[in-house]
Amino acid sequence: MSIPISKHMEHMNPSLIREIFKAAQKEGMISFTAGSPSAEEFPAQELADLAKDVFATQAATFLSYGVTEGYQPLRQWIADELQRSGIQREGDDTIVISGGQQALDFTAKCLLNDGDTVLVEAPTFLNALNTFRTYGARLVGVPMDGEGMDMDALEQALQQEKNVKFIYTIPNFQNPMGVTLSAARRRRMYDLAEQYDVVILEDDPYGRLRYSGTPVDAIKTLDRSGRVIYTGSFSKIIAPGIRVAYLCAPKELMAKMVVAKQCVDVHTNMLSQVLVYEYLTRCDLEAHIRQCCDHYRIKRDAMLSAIDRNFPAEVAVTRPEGGLFLWVTLPGGCSGMELHQRTIAAGVAAVPGKPFFADNIENDRGLRMNFSVPSLEEIDEGVARMGAVLRDFLQ
Ligand SMILES: Cc1ncc(COP(=O)(O)O)c(C=O)c1O
Repeated sequence: MSIPISKHMEHMNPSLIREIFKAAQKEGMISFTAGSPSAEEFPAQELADLAKDVFATQAATFLSYGVTEGYQPLRQWIADELQRSGIQREGDDTIVISGGQQALDFTAKCLLNDGDTVLVEAPTFLNALNTFRTYGARLVGVPMDGEGMDMDALEQALQQEKNVKFIYTIPNFQNPMGVTLSAARRRRMYDLAEQYDVVILEDDPYGRLRYSGTPVDAIKTLDRSGRVIYTGSFSKIIAPGIRVAYLCAPKELMAKMVVAKQCVDVHTNMLSQVLVYEYLTRCDLEAHIRQCCDHYRIKRDAMLSAIDRNFPAEVAVTRPEGGLFLWVTLPGGCSGMELHQRTIAAGVAAVPGKPFFADNIENDRGLRMNFSVPSLEEIDEGVARMGAVLRDFLQ
């Protein structure tokens, strides 16, 4: 039988990205395609010791159903942290969710009607685009530069577009560009949201992975009227497979989001939540984050210096202060998809940028390169191979 697919899913097509990741897994391929921290930094031994202990002492707690809002000690720990940093404000509530990805889904589910517009960075996180698409969103990309989303372009979009429900931003070390939204632009984005009466979804999975420069306060710290939804995650600072993250939003909206979560997974995996809580209270998270940053700083610097040595001068590259990615822009007229085919043939893979753009923007000049997962040797060799392909390609 040919099963008729719902109108929300019929146009969803993961094949392009699947092909890219399949190609990156071929024997001998050097891959800069990852979207995760390095497995070398997963605190596996600590988690194994904690798991042994919690199975002996509190199995009944995490083998039972939990509450949808999250394992209370963990939820409280997160809320305390968010209050300390000015993110959780009067009138907000925080819940534990199964990965930051759920915050994107719940926001879309609770706010969007068919045809509503979401303003997104161009380029932005591909899974966010797909999530918003499944709720019938019209996606409008707003151009980016080295300081993040262009605020004049955002204002223009807010003036022109009908039914804008929210602005989606990844303010720190953005996926895929690696750039950070400056403090001045955060203030302007918030003021524009107030002026045009729209919500901001602030997605911050990378904020703690800073290798240089000065931290910038979250947009949520500016929130006077309860219009900013903030999400963070333990995926990049502990491990992505544990699927533990958090969502902070105005209470009234949160009541709906909790219902959305009940419909999806009832609650986040209890063992993961207990393990994360035990890790946070019995191990040294700050020391662990410092170690991750020291490691990734070396890799970022290695990739940038290899690019400086090997890439033609016409190829532009972002110089991220943190996170996992940098972004390469090819000169006009060159196709990132075509370059991708050629680098694959030379045994090195990065992610072509085209799928990261919303439907209103045709841009095939970008490539995302991950530096957290490859070894220093792979970075040196892979960038040299890409440089050779690029020199040939640009001729
Ligand atoms: C910008 C952004 N948001 C959200 C996520 C989702 O992370 P997780 O669901 O693992 O917390 C990712 C993961 O790569 C991301 O890059």
